[in-house]
Amino acid sequence: MKWKKRSDDEIKSCVFNALSQNINYKVENVIGLPGSHLDERVFSQEVGFIHDAPYLSTLVQNPNHIGCHTIGDSESYFTGTHELEREVIAICAEDILKAKPDSIDGYVSAGGTEANLQAVWIYRNYFMREKGAKLDEIALICSSDSHYSMAKAANMFQLNYCSIPVDFNTRHIELHELDAQLSQLKQVGVKYLVVVANMMTTMFGSVDDLEPMIDLFQEYEMEVKIHIDGAYGGFYYPFSNEHSTLNFENEWIDSITLDAHKMVQAPYGTGIFLIRKGWMQYATTKEASYVLGEDCTISGSRSGANAVAIWMIFAKYGFHGWFEKILILQKRTDWLEKQLKVEGIRFYRNKYANIVTIEAVDVPKAIADKFGLVPDNHEQPKWYKIVVMDHVTLEKLELFVEELYNVQV
Ligand SMILES: Cc1ncc(COP(=O)(O)O)c(C=O)c1O
Repeated sequence: MKWKKRSDDEIKSCVFNALSQNINYKVENVIGLPGSHLDERVFSQEVGFIHDAPYLSTLVQNPNHIGCHTIGDSESYFTGTHELEREVIAICAEDILKAKPDSIDGYVSAGGTEANLQAVWIYRNYFMREKGAKLDEIALICSSDSHYSMAKAANMFQLNYCSIPVDFNTRHIELHELDAQLSQLKQVGVKYLVVVANMMTTMFGSVDDLEPMIDLFQEYEMEVKIHIDGAYGGFYYPFSNEHSTLNFENEWIDSITLDAHKMVQAPYGTGIFLIRKGWMQYATTKEASYVLGEDCTISGSRSGANAVAIWMIFAKYGFHGWFEKILILQKRTDWLEKQLKVEGIRFYRNKYANIVTIEAVDVPKAIADKFGLVPDNHEQPKWYKIVVMDHVTLEKLELFVEELYNVQV
C-alpha cells in the first residue's frame, strides 16, 4: 500500500500533534539550548494569524532537525517533527524508489547540491577508510550534462574529476570516451570510482543508461560506488516511466538525491538525501559530542519546517494524486513536442520527461527572452529549455508556439 492522501483537517491535526511533542520554549523551563521560537517582535505570532496554519506554526516554533533521524538517537526536543521527517524519507525511499522497508537512511538537506556532496563525501571516506585509498587513487565520473554540483564535489573533496562527453542528439554518454578515460585513469593509478548517474539532467531531462557504463567499469576491474542524481527527476521519472531501474531494487545503486523544491513546489531548503543503511557512518563527525546521536550530515542545524512542508504536500496528494499530476504534465509536454515537430523545429526530449530543449538556431533570442527560456550557456547558447511545470499551462505553451510559428513562416 502506497502513501495515502489526507484531508486538510487530518493534515492540520497531524502537524499540530507533532508540534505538541516538540519543546515549547514559551512554557517549558528549558534554559540550555542555543535556539528559540522566532522573535515575535518581528514575526507575527497572533493566534488568529497562525492558528489554522500548520506550516507557519512550524516556522514560528522553529524546530532544529540537526543530524539524521533514521539512525540511532536524535535530540529529544523535536521528536514530533523528527517523526514527520522519517515519514518523508520512508515515502521517498520505499513508495517512490522501491526500497525494502526500513532499509534506507536519509535526511532533508539544503538542496540537491548538498545531497550530491553528501554522497561523494561518504564514498570518498569509505574508499579511504576501508581500502586505504589515497586521494589521487579516487575519481569522480559523470556525464558532461551533469549538474555543476559534481565539479563542486570533486573540488571540495579533492578527487580527480572526469566529465564524459555526450552525443549532441541523444545526450547519451559516449562510451568510447568513457573507455578512453578509464584507460587513462588506470594508467595513472586510479583504482576507485565514485560514479554519479542522472535521473533527468538539468538542461535536457536526459537519463543516463547505467548498464553499458557498468560493463566498462567491470572490464577495468575498478571498484565503483554509484549515486543517482534525481534532484530534478526524482519526483517525476519514477512515475512517468514504470520500467525505470534507477531505484533501490537495483543493487548497483546505493544512494539517490531528490529535490522537493523543484517539481514538488516545496519551499527552498528541501533537498533529500537517501542512502542504504550502513553507509551514513562514513560521514559521522565524532567530534559533534554535544549533539545527541552525533551528526553525519553536511548541514548541521537545519529547519524542521522544511520536512513538515514536504510531509504536508505528500499528504495532500497521496501517491495516486501525485501520479495523476505527473500524467498531466506528461500530456502537456507531449502536446508541445507535437507542435514543434509539425513546425520542423529541432529539439531534444526524453519521452518520459517534462523538459523540451530547443536548438538555439531555431529560437530567436527575443522570443527566448520574452518567454523566459533558459539557455545552456548565456554567452553562446546552443540550446534553450522549456520546463513544463505546474504553472506552464497549455495556454502559455500555445502563445509560445504561435510566436515561434510566426517567425518561421
Ligand atoms: C540534476 C540536478 N542536480 C542537482 C541540482 C542542484 O540542486 P540545488 O539547486 O537544489 O542545490 C540541480 C538543480 O537544478 C539539478 O537539476
